[in-house]
Amino acid sequence: MMIGGATARVPAKINLHLGVGPLRDDGFHELSTLFCALGMHDDVTVRPAEELTVTVTGENRRAVPSDASNLAARAVVALADRIGRSPDVSITIDKHIPVAGGMAGGSADAAGALIAAARLWRVDRDQVDLHEIAAELGSDVPFSLTGGAALGTGRGEKLLPVLHRGEFHWVLAVSGTGLSTPDVYRELDRLRAAGDRTTDAGTARPDGLMVAIASGDVRAVAPLLHNDLQPAALSLRPLLRRTLRAGTEAGALAGIVSGSGPTCAFLCADAAAAVDVAAELSGSGVAKAVRTASGPVAGARLVPH
Ligand code: C5P
Repeated sequence: MMIGGATARVPAKINLHLGVGPLRDDGFHELSTLFCALGMHDDVTVRPAEELTVTVTGENRRAVPSDASNLAARAVVALADRIGRSPDVSITIDKHIPVAGGMAGGSADAAGALIAAARLWRVDRDQVDLHEIAAELGSDVPFSLTGGAALGTGRGEKLLPVLHRGEFHWVLAVSGTGLSTPDVYRELDRLRAAGDRTTDAGTARPDGLMVAIASGDVRAVAPLLHNDLQPAALSLRPLLRRTLRAGTEAGALAGIVSGSGPTCAFLCADAAAAVDVAAELSGSGVAKAVRTASGPVAGARLVPH
């Protein structure tokens, strides 16, 4: 039977812990990070076409490249190369994850394109390791495939599932303009060269946090959220301090810059508290958009047409 197209739904991520080690010879930093997939998704549809095209729809469609540099297009080309066929498909991305927001939006689209194209082309996933292709595309792409909660090491691509009891409720404060991930890592290197490494966790495993999330006790988790990239993101975007303060003043248990930012993630006591915090943050004018999302949720998966 000929398949007309395949759609994958892929979650955003936050890092409950992001420890950044030294810069490696390959230009990446060694990480120790605790990923959590959140219920905020992009949908990626792949259909047979005369040539490779990318169309972006949805609330966050602006600022997403629709040429061959789009990570979803690069994912399809990588898979096509791997199995020796042409990448002639149309890719449609229904974009809801913030762009350049530190929530792995581009990685999500790459992961979605990989599993949708693998389905369309009937790729035998016992023969072709999508995780390996994912890791070549970007440090966060493997986690976008697997989802849930996971400890990431290496440059973030080596994953071990982590026990996360219950569901946590988050509020996300989204900025109008993104931050470039390489710029934020470079700023961290600059701050470190200037002697500022007071808050660094480095590559130590976040054992205390892992125990807390396994227990499902959100109040034990809140004080343990940590991001080594946060000082660098705040240095590049000082106004984020106000956003972080506004979230905790609105009643969040804790707030943290998500990944390389500028999205700020606030952990709340329960779903009702998250709605209250979101309402108050929306009114405070410190963010372009405010959303609630809970997690962990599953990674990239096919959805029926
Ligand atoms: O792997 P990804 O394409 O997401 O990385 C984007 C950039 O972020 C890299 O080129 C690098 O500058 C920086 N990065 C890093 N160390 C990591 C992950 C990303 O320095 N572990």
